[in-house]
Amino acid sequence: MSKAKTVYQCSACGGQSPKWQGQCPHCGEWNGLLEVVAGTAPRRYASLAASSTVQNLSSISAAETPRHPTGIEELDRVLGGGLVRGAVILIGGDPGIGKSTLLLQALAKVVESRQALYVSGEESAQQIALRAKRLAVESAPIRLLAEIRLESVLATLVQEQPEVVVIDSIQTVYTDSLQSAPGSVAQVRECAAQLTRHAKQHGTTMILVGHVTKEGALAGPRVLEHIVDTVLYFEGDTHSSFRLVRAIKNRFGAVNELGVFAMTDKGLRGVSNPSALFLSQHEEPVAGSCVMVTQEGTRPLLVEVQALVDEAHSPNVRRLGVGLEQNRLAMLLAVLHRHAGIGCFDQDVFVNAVGGVKIAEPAADLAVLLAIVSSLRNKPLPEKLVVFGEVGLAGEVRPVQRGQERLKEAAKLGFTKAIVPKANRPKQAIEGMEIVAVERLEQAVEGCR
Ligand code: TYD
Ligand code: MG
Repeated sequence: MSKAKTVYQCSACGGQSPKWQGQCPHCGEWNGLLEVVAGTAPRRYASLAASSTVQNLSSISAAETPRHPTGIEELDRVLGGGLVRGAVILIGGDPGIGKSTLLLQALAKVVESRQALYVSGEESAQQIALRAKRLAVESAPIRLLAEIRLESVLATLVQEQPEVVVIDSIQTVYTDSLQSAPGSVAQVRECAAQLTRHAKQHGTTMILVGHVTKEGALAGPRVLEHIVDTVLYFEGDTHSSFRLVRAIKNRFGAVNELGVFAMTDKGLRGVSNPSALFLSQHEEPVAGSCVMVTQEGTRPLLVEVQALVDEAHSPNVRRLGVGLEQNRLAMLLAVLHRHAGIGCFDQDVFVNAVGGVKIAEPAADLAVLLAIVSSLRNKPLPEKLVVFGEVGLAGEVRPVQRGQERLKEAAKLGFTKAIVPKANRPKQAIEGMEIVAVERLEQAVEGCR
């Protein structure tokens, strides 16, 4: 088959150039040129969803979409109950974190009631068979296709009519209609759009595995995240055995739901009670450590935040946050100086969320600051203390969602003292828990002496 003619189109102004350039000759935008097929607009702009006539919203029956549980409880939790017909799910994560493992395990359960196809562009059929053996699912009737040409994949899908398809990975698939290499932005976008169209037309559940960049974002175009219905993200430290699967976007369920797994020698195993997973065990209380309660979806999770504040030996002080937001750290240090009078400008500050968790919610602010103060003073915080609360630029401590549940979980794990925002003070006392409710950062720093 001869290649279709392609041109390079600017993603900012739409101007076209015959060859790739760093800067668009029309509008001057850098890095915006993408390869597109020339002159095939009617085909390329077909709608992703099945088209229909205009009707009244109230007359459309919105029956609850049936869900097909995968049988892996922690995965179903993040999916919002199970797989939905016609849904497209993107699952991203670092190499070697367990994407292929989880999906093979899920398919092995899915094929008990439905037909499933695993399309692999990264590994050979033998490699997958070896993994299946290791996972003890080698006898599951999963159909397997080792192929990276999109046209062949689509032809197989039409022929086999599977109900659930895994594409491992979207970056390895390429279409004949574009000249750029597999994994390029144009290829990924085009392949994902065509697979999505197939999923919507045939009611197939499509699971796409996506690579991540060095910075940890999903590789390829952002538009991929817009096309698909659900974006799941694998997190965790590849050196520890725990893995978290987080829903970043979900048209069929709640976001920020969290699935927790442990990697064993027989694949991933769900951890149903993970709240104490991210606490490290110290024999004696140590300086620079503060336990916080973060709320992930419907589950509270206790996480230890560690800080190290050390004299800087260069004029450029270092501020490093692992698992926490870097920019927020600089801001919190400024608030700490201005409102609590504790300065760290000649100190390097490192903070870390233990166990490879990523904490995005601002409820971590108070724990980060108390850990920093504790490290700076080289004085441990009181034993069995938990902390949560958002800290504002004016030095105020703001309430967080679901304070009561967080406190209950901490009490259940044996914590006896909590420093919380005033508005999160529980109406009824929690047995065995002393609550210090604070309105300002100064009070919190005072309260943990
Ligand atoms: P894999 O699923 O191939 O990762 P990804 O597809 O995200 O790149 O996971 C591979 C890692 O998991 C590899 O380092 C080996 C480890 N592993 C186990 O520890 N136990 C197992 O049962 C399996 C199948 C893999
Ligand atoms: Mg893989």
